[in-house]
Amino acid sequence: MSRPRPKAEFARIAPDVKLGRDVAIHGFVNLYGCEIGDQTRIGAFVEIQKNARVGSRTKIGSHTFICEGVTIEDECFVGHHVVFVNDPYPAAVTPDGRVQEAGDWRVVATRVGRRASIGSGAVILCGVTIGENALVGAGSVVTRDVPPGTIVAGNPAAVLRARPPGPGADAPG
Ligand SMILES: CC(C)(COP(=O)(O)OP(=O)(O)OC[C@H]1O[C@@H](n2cnc3c(N)ncnc32)[C@H](O)[C@@H]1OP(=O)(O)O)[C@@H](O)C(=O)NCCC(=O)NCCS
Repeated sequence: MSRPRPKAEFARIAPDVKLGRDVAIHGFVNLYGCEIGDQTRIGAFVEIQKNARVGSRTKIGSHTFICEGVTIEDECFVGHHVVFVNDPYPAAVTPDGRVQEAGDWRVVATRVGRRASIGSGAVILCGVTIGENALVGAGSVVTRDVPPGTIVAGNPAAVLRARPPGPGADAPG
């Protein structure tokens, strides 16, 4: 993987980030310890943490947070202000009052399948798989696996209907 040339000023890309070819990065991005595939576009104010992986030809909208343990496969769309989670029972301190450290909790992984789309403002709880070519509605809270090729929405997200395959085919017939 080649070294990036961020298109915008004020982007922080740590030396351990593995960037593919022709990755477009906008301003105020914070990337560390992650992997980004070829031709992926990353909007402003996005943070992608260590041990997260974003595939090729994927689009990440501004203000989205992709945490450790998240894998987003190729050709996905992630809208604005989407939040991923990796700890179902978060805490700042341990039961005996120590400041919590890395060994005191474990990352629960999440996978987003190829060509899935996630609407703006969605929250994706950890441990779920969003199937290939699925679409998550804006503002949804995903608490369970999303079957491939379905549209889900709401809190908790529930299946609305099937998602037709192919770009631009989402509108109901
Ligand atoms: C989920 C979505 C694809 C559904 O589109 P659709 O299939 O055309 O569905 P409709 O608008 O006909 O709505 C069907 C029902 O689902 C509800 N619904 C639609 N989107 C919803 C959402 N995001 N959250 C909760 N309910 C939703 C509607 O209120 C309607 O309910 P009703 O039958 O009780 O009236 C669309 O609403 C959506 O959220 N798209 C994501 C947009 C986005 O974030 N784009 C990214 C950046 S621009």
